[in-house]
Amino acid sequence: MTNNLEKKNVDLQILADSFGTDISDVKKICEKQLDNMDTGYTVYSGLQREKLIVEILKSIDSDKQVIGAPERKNIWNDGWNENLNLLKSNNYQLDNLLPKFIRKNKPIRFMGEYILPNEQNFEHKYFNIYREWLFEKYFSNFDSIYDIGCGSSYNLIELTKKFPNKKIYGFDFVQSSVDIVNEITKFYNLNAEGKIFDITNPDHNIHLDENSLIFTSGVIEQVAGEFDKFIDYILQMKPKLVVNIEPMYELYDQDILFDYLAAKFHYKRGYTKGYLPRLRELEKEGKIEIIKLKRLNFGSLLMEGYTCIVWKPL
Ligand SMILES: C[S@@+](CC[C@H](N)C(=O)[O-])C[C@H]1O[C@@H](n2cnc3c(N)ncnc32)[C@H](O)[C@@H]1O
Repeated sequence: MTNNLEKKNVDLQILADSFGTDISDVKKICEKQLDNMDTGYTVYSGLQREKLIVEILKSIDSDKQVIGAPERKNIWNDGWNENLNLLKSNNYQLDNLLPKFIRKNKPIRFMGEYILPNEQNFEHKYFNIYREWLFEKYFSNFDSIYDIGCGSSYNLIELTKKFPNKKIYGFDFVQSSVDIVNEITKFYNLNAEGKIFDITNPDHNIHLDENSLIFTSGVIEQVAGEFDKFIDYILQMKPKLVVNIEPMYELYDQDILFDYLAAKFHYKRGYTKGYLPRLRELEKEGKIEIIKLKRLNFGSLLMEGYTCIVWKPL
C-alpha cells in the first residue's frame, strides 16, 4: 500500500458543486472570501486512509455522548456561559463567540474524501463562505429572521452585520445563549432580541413577525427525533421561508464505507433521523414545498453537519 498523498485546491467549481449552484453565482458572492484563505489540502489515501478509518472506528466505539439526554441542556448552558464570560472580560470582542465544536487542525470530510486542509481553521472558513452565499441567496427578501437554537450567536452576529435593517431574533432553550444575544444587542445597539424557546415544546404564544424566515443550524440534529411539535409550530405560524442546515442521516449512501462510517456515528450518538422523510411526506400532502435540498459534502471527521434544506409552508 502506497503513501503517495494527492494535493488539491478548493476552487470555484468545487464551491459550485458543494453548494448546488453554478460557477458564476459563487464567483459573484464568494470569490473574495475564497481568495482570503489557503485553499490547499491533502487527500488521505492508501495506508494513511486505512489508519484514519481505524481511528474513526475507535472514536465511534468509545464515544459516550447521548444526544437529547437531559444533562445535555446543562452542558449547552455551561458551554455558552463560558463564551459569555469570555465576551464580557474581553471588552465584547466578538471572536470570543466562536463555538468550540468547530475544531482546528483536524482531518475532515470533504467532497467524498478524507482531507487534511492547509488552513488550520478550514471548517470554520469554509462554512463562512457557504453562509455568505446562503444568506445572500435566501435571506434578503425578509424583514425578520429567527435564528432558532442560536447558541453563541455565531450566525446571529453575521446576520446583524449583513442585514442591519432586519430584525434578528435569537432563540434557544438555554438562558446563557439568550443572555449572549441580549448582551451584544445592548452593547452594539443591534436590532436583535433573545428569547427562550424549546423546539421540542414550542410556545405558541410566541408569534412570528410578518414576512419572516426561520433559520436553524445544527439544532434539529440535537433533539433526537423530537421535531414534530416544531414542524406543527412552523405550519401554524407560517413563516415565508425555512432554512435548515442540519446533518441528514437519510442522505448517506450506506453501501459506501465513507458514508457508512458517518451514518454509524450519527446513529450511535442519536442525532435526529427522520426529519427529511417527514418533510417529504408533508410535501406529498400539499402542506409544504421543498425548494432546495443539498448535501454540501463537507463536515468534520466523523459526520457531515451541513445539509441545506430550504422549504416553505403552503
Ligand atoms: C450545535 S449548537 C448550534 C448553535 C448555532 N445554531 C450554531 O450554528 O452555531 C446546538 C444549539 O441548539 C440548542 N438546542 C438544543 N436543543 C434545543 C431545543 N430543544 N430547543 C432549542 N434549542 C436547542 C443548544 O442550546 C445549542 O445552542
